[in-house]
Parts: sequence; structure tokens; C-alpha cells
Amino acid sequence: MRGVFYLYNVFMIYKFPENFKWGSATSAHQIEGDNNNDWTEWEMSSSRIEQLKKEGKNPKDFISGKADDSFNRYEEDFDIAKKLNQNIHRFSIEWSRIEPEEGRFDSNAMQHYQKVVKALRDRGIEPMITLWHFTNPVWFAKKGSFLNLNSPKYFTRYVKYVVEHLPDVKLWITFNEATTVYSGFSYLKGLWPPQYKSFFKWRRVNKNIIRSHIQAYKEIKKTYNHSPVDTNNSNIANLVSGPADDWGTSHNVEVGLAESNTYSPGGNKFYERIIGKIYNYYRNLYFLIRAFPHYDFIGLNYYHVDRRVPGNKILPNQNWIMEDMGWEIYPKGIYYVLKMIQKFKKPIYITENGTADAKDLIREKFIKEHLRWVWQAIQDGVDIRGYLYWSLLDNFEWAHGYSPRFGLVEVNFSTFERQIRPSAYKYSEICSRNILEI
Ligand code: BGC
Repeated sequence: MRGVFYLYNVFMIYKFPENFKWGSATSAHQIEGDNNNDWTEWEMSSSRIEQLKKEGKNPKDFISGKADDSFNRYEEDFDIAKKLNQNIHRFSIEWSRIEPEEGRFDSNAMQHYQKVVKALRDRGIEPMITLWHFTNPVWFAKKGSFLNLNSPKYFTRYVKYVVEHLPDVKLWITFNEATTVYSGFSYLKGLWPPQYKSFFKWRRVNKNIIRSHIQAYKEIKKTYNHSPVDTNNSNIANLVSGPADDWGTSHNVEVGLAESNTYSPGGNKFYERIIGKIYNYYRNLYFLIRAFPHYDFIGLNYYHVDRRVPGNKILPNQNWIMEDMGWEIYPKGIYYVLKMIQKFKKPIYITENGTADAKDLIREKFIKEHLRWVWQAIQDGVDIRGYLYWSLLDNFEWAHGYSPRFGLVEVNFSTFERQIRPSAYKYSEICSRNILEI
């Protein structure tokens, strides 16, 4: 097999393609601290606090608060990413900081993110920016968020402002897991704000998110091709790295989307196959089909296998569970999902893959087992450009609060001290050698 060598029959060495990117991912609300958006409102609401108390939980563990204080400590975080030999980093921009009130754009917030991008570039790390990762500005939430028919207009206006101020960024992701996780949790199951349980609202939100993505995609392409920004504007020019004549003339910007896909094997009986197809459509294919061809790459977030589809017993029982999340780990699933989305004929980045593991007992094995299947998919013709572990840091895990620890780096949430976990060094060897050895 191409690119694999046996060493004394003990180790196997899997070589990744040249230019393959290695890195990690985060999102604004989970690490920045001091945000003010629809999630912070929900975290502090009396109904949420009552609900947590009823479940015997301490509400303090479910309030994002200062998170990792990465809004102030991002340089320290990127020093760590560099030390760990990472050359790509995915983070998200917090819409509620950029546009805290409808139509009022905060240039200080924008400058902050320009500095973040520069800090990455100074360390030789390619930025990949997510424009929306679950949170909404309060004013937008009051308008009904993506239930609002005008939501594509609001979203695209924000995107245009951001992109115009970061003209040298090459990799953009419009939405993170918007139709696979967010809309279901927030509008169908009532688990996340605004806690609706409505099939019709769920459908409407999905449709408006797709429309928002397509409009934003077109806007980003237009912005990059027509150089609408004043290149002599010193504020921006001083902050953004790269030669000034790159401005607006960069045609190789790539705009993608990230969805959370699962491997969901169904059974062989007729009704099992039908249910499997419907589930698979909504969970894995809906956004990619509806938004096609308006994306340049696909971001795959892959964590676990899903046995809810009837007849799933065809999947061997491996008993490998991510305890904190209750997820069943099945590394080969990433291979099946990659092969499935290969049909869209777009390059793929693994934009998230990781495990909660406070004691760092399974993380190294988790990474290596998944990478083995990523490598296999590459051998079988899937165009995969990079792998980004979730997450660089322990962080605020949404409705689960602070207990699940996904980080390559352990964070003390009282002192904000960062401590690199042993598995992170193992991953960094893979990153530096471009080779997986098992
Ligand atoms: C999300 C992250 C989250 C991770 C682990 C993904 O669904 O994009 O924000 O922390 O999974 O649950």
C-alpha cells in the first residue's frame, strides 16, 4: 500500500500528503470569556438556573463567565499551538462583539480579531475562521434569530463587514453545525436557547440558515474579487499582515461550512433502510445538498457513531465510550463518512475531532485511531487537506458546562493556567513529522 511501511513487523508508518495541515480548533463563546449574547442571557436566566438546581447541579459550573480568558490570552494560546507544531488554527468570531447593537459595528472588536489573525500569522499558523458558532447577538435573538425571514440579510451584512476587514484570510467557514446540531437542539428538542420544540420552527430555521449561507458565500466571493476596502486605511493596513497589494485581489479565498456528521448504520429490513435514509439525509447530507454548489470545501466534525437508526446491530460492539458525553467512539466511522461526502467532489478538512478525557487516558489512542482511517480515506481517493483536533483548550462545553475536558491543553478555570497534556505532545510529533506511527 502506498505510503505505509512496516517496521520490524511492530510499528506501521502512515505518511500523509505533502502540505497536509495539522492543527486544532476552538470557538469564541467557549474560550473568550465576558461575552454578551443569547447564550449568556440563557445561562443567567432564572428558568435555566432553576432547572439546573432541580437536576442537583451547581449553576455556577454552567455559566460561561470568563471561560478561558482567551480574549486576553490568545497569544499565550498560540504560542502553545506553535510549540505543538500546529500550522493551522480554527477559531470563531463572535458576532455579538462585532455588532453589539443592530447596525452598529464595533471597530475595536474588529481590531481585536485583526490582531488575533496577525498573532497566528506571526507564528506561521494559517487562520481558518468560523463566522458563526452557535451564539447570536441579543438584538438578533430578539428578532427571532434564524426564524426571521430577513436573517440572511442581517447575517450577510455582518459577514461583509468582517471579511472586508480581514482581506488576507483564505479559509472561511460560514456556519458551524447549524443544521445538524444547533437547529435540532434549539428548535426541535428544546435543549438550547431559545428552547423551542417545534417541527415547523426547526424547518424554518434550517431553510433560513441555508439561505444565509448562500448569500454570505456570494458576498465573500464578491468582496474578495472587487477590493471594496480602502487599502490606505491605516488602522486596518497596520494590523493586517501580508503585502498591501494582496488586498481584495486574492482570488483563492475558500469558503466552506462545517457540519457534525455521524456514522449511523441502519439495518437491512425495508423499514430500517427507509428510516436510515431519512436520518442520514438530515444528519449528514441536508446542508451539503441544499447549499450545493455554494461552498469550496467541506468541514467535517466527526465524534461518534449513532445507533438510533433501527437495525444498527450490524455494527460490532466495541465498548469504547466517551464517558463525559455518553458518546460511542467508533474511529472507522470517520472513514465511512468521508467516503459518503466524497461524492460532493469538494476538498475536505476535518474541522473537529476529539474526545473529552480529563485524565488524558484515551486521547492519544483516540487521535491515532481516527487518523489511521483518515489516512485510509486519502489512499482511497478522498481529497482531505487537513486535520484539526477539537479542542486546543479545555473550554465551556455548552449545556454540559465546564466538566467535559476536550483540551490538548488543560486549563485551570480559576487561575487560567495552561498545562499541556501528554497526549498533546504525542499529537505534536505527528504534526511535525507528517507521519502517523502506530
Ligand atoms: C461543537 C463544539 C463542541 C464539540 C464537543 C461540536 O459539536 O462544534 O462547539 O464543543 O462538538 O461537543
